[in-house]
Parts: sequence; C-alpha cells; structure tokens
Amino acid sequence: MKRIILTNKVASTLLFLGSVLFSSLAAAAGGGYPLDSANIDPTDTASLQRGAKYYQNYCAGCHATQYQRYERVADDLGIPHDLMMENLVFDKRAKIGDLMFNSMDPKEAKTWFGATPPDLTLVSRVKGGPDWIYTYLRTFYEDPSRPYGVNNKVFPDVGMPHVLLELQGIQIDTCGDSDPNARDPLTGEKLCGLTVDPERKGSMAPAEYDQMAYDLSNFLAYSAEPMQQQRKSLGIYVFLFLAVFLVFAYLLKREFWKDVH
Ligand code: HEC
Repeated sequence: MKRIILTNKVASTLLFLGSVLFSSLAAAAGGGYPLDSANIDPTDTASLQRGAKYYQNYCAGCHATQYQRYERVADDLGIPHDLMMENLVFDKRAKIGDLMFNSMDPKEAKTWFGATPPDLTLVSRVKGGPDWIYTYLRTFYEDPSRPYGVNNKVFPDVGMPHVLLELQGIQIDTCGDSDPNARDPLTGEKLCGLTVDPERKGSMAPAEYDQMAYDLSNFLAYSAEPMQQQRKSLGIYVFLFLAVFLVFAYLLKREFWKDVH
C-alpha cells in the first residue's frame, strides 16, 4: 500500500514537472499567440537572395550572424562575390571570407535597447522555427506604454524597435482584451486582430510586406542549416548507390550459397 502511495506521489510530481516544462516551452514559443505558417521553401533561391538583401539592409546593423561567412552565403545563393561585397556588405573593412560579425558594442546595445541583440545564425532552430520569425516580424503593434511605442504579439515587451515600421506602417490591435482567435460563427472571419492604421500606412502593401517577412524567415532558416539542400541531394545519390549495391550483394550471396543448397 505504502509503495502504491509512493509511486503515485512520484508520478504526480513527474506530471507536475512535465506540465511546468511544457507550458514554459509553449510560452517561449509564442506566448500563446497563434503562429501563422510561413511555408518556407529552401529551394526558392530568388526568395533567399531577397531575404539576404533585406537582412543585410535592415537587420545586420544590430544582429550578427557570426557562425556564417559572406562567401558561403554568396556561393550558396548564387550571388557573385563582387556584387555581394558592393551591395550587401556595408562594413567596408570586411573581406568576402569573413564571418558575418557586426560592429555594435554589446554593452552599449544593452543600454539602448535593454537587451543585447542576439546572434541570429541559429535563431530559426531555437525559437519556434521559421513560423515564429514570420509571425514575429508581422505582429508589431502600437503600444504607447513601451519605450519605442510598439509591442509584439509573440515576444511581449520585446526590446527590439519595429525596424520595418516605414515599410509596414503602424498596426493597431483591434482586439483589446478579447480573444484574438474569435471568429464569426457564420462567416468564419476573424472578429478582430492587427490591422495597419489607414492614416499611417507604410511604403509596402500588406501582401508585399508578408512576402518580405517570408523572404527573411526563409533566409534565416537557410542560415541555421546551410547544408540542408546539399544533404538532400547527397541523400539521393546514397540511395542510388545502395540500389546498385543491392544487385551485387544479391549476386554474391547466390554465388556463395550455390554449393550449400
Ligand atoms: C536597432 C537594432 C535592431 C535591429 C535593426 C534589428 N533588431 Fe532584432 N533584436 C534587437 C534587440 C535589442 C533584440 C532583443 C530583444 C529582447 O531580448 O527584448 C532583438 C531580438 C530579435 C529576435 C529574437 C531573438 C531571440 O532569440 O530572442 C529576432 C528573431 C530578431 N531580433 C530578428 C530581427 C530581424 C529579422 C531584423 C531585421 C528585419 C532585426 N531583428 C533587426 C535589435 C534589433
């Protein structure tokens, strides 16, 4: 009887720990806000090239991708080295073979933003994946209580300013305290959500902006696993080799067992 009680206790403790772990993981992934799927495509080179361009123009000033080299990005994405250096690398001391550092002093950055901009090489593997980044870039909204006047739905109280504000315009949250997932029972349309304030539109239409967020998410997913495409094409050769090898293995087996049977 005692033993049963003990195991019950152990089981409930485990269950409790498990649920704490799970809920903190879920909170880290999206703060409960539903993630939109980016459906990224690592074979879409044009999108990756655009992603690299946007990344270098709008993100690399604060964030490093220091586990990646300019040369590798140029070669993988089919960008000629001279074009890469002229148009996408703004640190004029940098060389094509350099790691993609940035020149921001982490201490000063902490004073400015309250947090140091983290390295983004692997961010798509540690946060909730490309979908998280896609949703993150699209869910900045006006919040006068925050230092930069904006907040974010999947990263509440984020230290990063809305750096794409002039492209997207300022979004307002029409939900307030009501459920952001609520839908009209008849039409199935969302009842509230984030919409760009018609008075303060950005230079991009919403669909264009989404495309840009997609390109950036695609690029950061590539950056976290640049070998992905090579690995897949190598895999096909491995299977072909195994298929050919099977024929010889079978013939050899027949030869060996000929005299036994
Ligand atoms: C003005 C500086 C600045 C620029 C430019 C900037 N960021 Fe940030 N970013 C930050 C700071 C600071 C944080 C840390 C926020 C925090 O921890 O509260 C951050 C956090 C992030 C995170 C969350 C990372 C994590 O692991 O928590 C992502 C993803 C991100 N930025 C992506 C981008 C992308 C994509 C761009 C370009 C479109 C960009 N950032 C441009 C300052 C910047």
